Amino acid sequence: MTGIEAVRENWKKAVFEELCALADRRGDDPAALKEKDLVPGVPPKSEMGDIAFPLFPFAKVFRTSPQALAEELAQGLRNRDDLSGEVRTAGPYVNVVIGVGNIAAELLAATRDLPEAYGSSGHLKGVPVMVEFSCPNTNKPLHLGHLRNDALGESISRILRAAGADVRKVNLINDRGIHICKSMLAYREFGDGSTPESTGKKSDHFVGDYYVKFNQWAKENPRAEEDARSMLVAWEKNDPEVNSLWRLMNRWAIEGIEETYEATGISFDQIYYESQTYSLGKDEILKGLERGVFYKEEDGSIWVDLEEIGLDKKVLLRSDGTSLYLTQDIGTAIQRQKDWHFTRLVYVVGSEQQYHFRVLFHVLTKLGFEWAENLYHLSYGMVNLPEGKMKSREGTVVDADDLIRELTSMAEAEIREKEREDEVESVDETARKVALAALHYYLLQVSPNKDMIFNPKESLSFNGNTGPYLQYMGARISSMRRKFQERRDEFTGIEAKPELLNTPEERELIKLCSDFSSVIAAAADQYNPSLLASYLYELARTFSRYYHETPILTGSEKETAVSRLALASAVLCVLKNGMYLLNIPFVEKM
Ligand code: ARG
Repeated sequence: MTGIEAVRENWKKAVFEELCALADRRGDDPAALKEKDLVPGVPPKSEMGDIAFPLFPFAKVFRTSPQALAEELAQGLRNRDDLSGEVRTAGPYVNVVIGVGNIAAELLAATRDLPEAYGSSGHLKGVPVMVEFSCPNTNKPLHLGHLRNDALGESISRILRAAGADVRKVNLINDRGIHICKSMLAYREFGDGSTPESTGKKSDHFVGDYYVKFNQWAKENPRAEEDARSMLVAWEKNDPEVNSLWRLMNRWAIEGIEETYEATGISFDQIYYESQTYSLGKDEILKGLERGVFYKEEDGSIWVDLEEIGLDKKVLLRSDGTSLYLTQDIGTAIQRQKDWHFTRLVYVVGSEQQYHFRVLFHVLTKLGFEWAENLYHLSYGMVNLPEGKMKSREGTVVDADDLIRELTSMAEAEIREKEREDEVESVDETARKVALAALHYYLLQVSPNKDMIFNPKESLSFNGNTGPYLQYMGARISSMRRKFQERRDEFTGIEAKPELLNTPEERELIKLCSDFSSVIAAAADQYNPSLLASYLYELARTFSRYYHETPILTGSEKETAVSRLALASAVLCVLKNGMYLLNIPFVEKM
């Protein structure tokens, strides 16, 4: 524990010690005081202090009113010389205005050269965590739901890493099954040997268009579905012609999807393919049957009884020996544990699969794997566009590439409208980064479990609770630092003095910045990047207020200017590192 957290903890300890000493002095029984009854809160207004200790729970022991107790306790605390800060009373509360001097000194020293590691909490040091996310199908391109999935998966992985965990990001590409055969069949029927290259289409869209074509065709052709099924059988029998078509189209789909990952800053340490994992579960089910964990029905199918968790029975292997989605996931989890000894495995998957993961985790626990206790389904809600907005050609899902293109051109228009073309390094590059900031922040600022509407226009506002707003604040501070560099000579030999940072906004900024690592820790523990998003927004807003009201480089003593710039740099360090954790690109100029 460092910074403000340590200071809070210290005060709490001191208050309890004083309570005990007071009881001693008055001849009351200190043993009757319970430390857990001391629950520090935050005063309703920041002018009233930083910590509030309610004394109601202790008044009885002292046979006095909480108000009187507060007065007496405050006196005792003021007499101590080992605490920094000011003690006040507010009725039945003892309030503390924390002395930020030490915290400020610590903060300025720790953020001086904007180190990338500032904020890392380290409380999960060395814990191996595997995070699975994205999991696209190879019959069509990514859609808006994948963008939420990818944003969450990438962000929670970065957050867990910042918390010290050893993270391995994995993808599970669904490259087998009837849906792929449908694209393949339509291509064989209508493709005429065309390729993504020959048509100039992005290769996953090329494949996706045949999937759409199949569905249109199947409406008039009753044989189409059946043909797709026979193709799957042929594929499973390793038919050479089907196999080579499958290879070709899968490669197109995956290459296209990888381009989208690249454009959105998403990456993986390892990729699993369902075509390689789909039969893995069978042996495990048979082993479980032998050990009596599962049971067999008369028709030969194998089942698990889920009564212990209040659910019905569930089939694991069909009577013909074929496996199910669940079977496959059982095998894949066990394989992954062999590949890499994680102690936690996080699945980023939509909330419609809650039942699936409940069953999966329970079955793995029943099989006796000790790592099964730390499996976590990071479940997220649906995401849609507002009524009447851009739909894909299919009219149902919103295509990821289309949406990113749209956001980028909106960002570009905004840059030109605000006449910032000459400010930025490159309009295209900046527009691309602003679009990603808008997208990722908007998707992550909502708690994962909630459904949401993605509003492109709102997400891009330079002036609201958005990613571009964070970028804008970062660029303002960067520009201030450049100006300072230009005037470096005027300030030679002048050092920042933390004790000069004393206005309410400065105190607020110091406290906020030094809370960064505890926010990272909370976001990691709750698998919730939205905690970090709202924290960064509050920091940016507080800084914005500060910098509108307080001259930083101009009109103040040189020592004050240098100290204020150091504080602004601390804010920049936190913003920059925090934005990285949300996969929001940083821009120097905006
Ligand atoms: N590809 C699956 C789908 O589209 C999601 C896979 C999720 N991951 C898993 N291990 N089951 O629904």
